Amino acid sequence: MTDLIDRLAGGSELSDDEWRFLIEGDYERQLLFNKADEVRRQYYGTDVYIRGLIEISSFCKNDCLYCGIRRSNADAARYRLSEEEILACCEQGYGLGFRTFVLQGGEDGFHTTQWVERVVSDIKGTYPDCAVTLSLGERPREDYEIWYQAGADRYLLRHETASRSHYEKLHPAEQSYRQRVECLWNLKEIGYQAGAGFMVGSPFQGMEELIADMRFLKAFQPHMVGIGPFIPHHDTPFAAYPPGSMTLTLTMVALTRLLLPRALLPATTALGTIHPQGREFGLKAGANVVMPNLSPANVRGQYSLYDNKVCTGQEAAEGLAALRESVAQAGYQIVVDRGDAL
Ligand code: 5AD
Repeated sequence: MTDLIDRLAGGSELSDDEWRFLIEGDYERQLLFNKADEVRRQYYGTDVYIRGLIEISSFCKNDCLYCGIRRSNADAARYRLSEEEILACCEQGYGLGFRTFVLQGGEDGFHTTQWVERVVSDIKGTYPDCAVTLSLGERPREDYEIWYQAGADRYLLRHETASRSHYEKLHPAEQSYRQRVECLWNLKEIGYQAGAGFMVGSPFQGMEELIADMRFLKAFQPHMVGIGPFIPHHDTPFAAYPPGSMTLTLTMVALTRLLLPRALLPATTALGTIHPQGREFGLKAGANVVMPNLSPANVRGQYSLYDNKVCTGQEAAEGLAALRESVAQAGYQIVVDRGDAL
């Protein structure tokens, strides 16, 4: 087993059986997590990068079956931040030490190309030493180009699953896997640091799907990979499905660190939601990024992708001092830095 881990870390192609064993086999996970931590330290030392997450809109035209802000959820609370509110979040975040701002939102038709362009260039004009990450879903290539020209540095667009048939079980027919992946390639070609990612334990996911995710990551070579457990939301068709497992999620994070040693891997909010120490465990399994919530406190509860999503305490930007402390306890250090991919 340790030679399998070494082969993965050494860049070897693994067979399906070998992947299957690493993902679900009966072996001591701590060995895998330790190796992932060793590789992470080789490349990034003990630095943990922080991103101020600003959830700019809970309106969404999509209908992903797993997501609480899907358009069919008539009970979802909807809000949209103004540019002034977003800039106020950045001001607060800058003071706290954030040097990356992530603008994330549902696919909100109100966000015209020009509106986003202006927000990006205003943030970059005010904070030229900061990176701006966008996470606004699928858009025409032209929009991505315009936003890149305006100064956006990075883009997060999880592929969600790298199996077409599985993708079709998680999304309505109008959303296609082909288009998702095309967007990702466009982002990368334009020059963004591009982030892919997937949920662990989403309904109908099996070993084949997780192996496909790893093969996709190897082919796409993203700069960032967001990996979190699926967590049911009570107002979605997947309300009754069980959440993904923490150990399996940590396993996928660690395997991703070995597959892509230079990647920026967040210890995700979903991981912090399924276990009180999920975030620390994520860091110890190869993750090197945390994304505290920098949205205005009054809207935070309304960006409800899944049930019980944590957005207070150390998940919140105001909890940064406490987060700094627990990250230090885990053996790492939060740094004031843009935290670009190597
Ligand atoms: N459980 C876990 N993650 C979810 N996301 C959306 N809904 C859920 C859920 N129920 C994730 C998706 C999306 C990101 C913004 O949140 O992977 O890309």
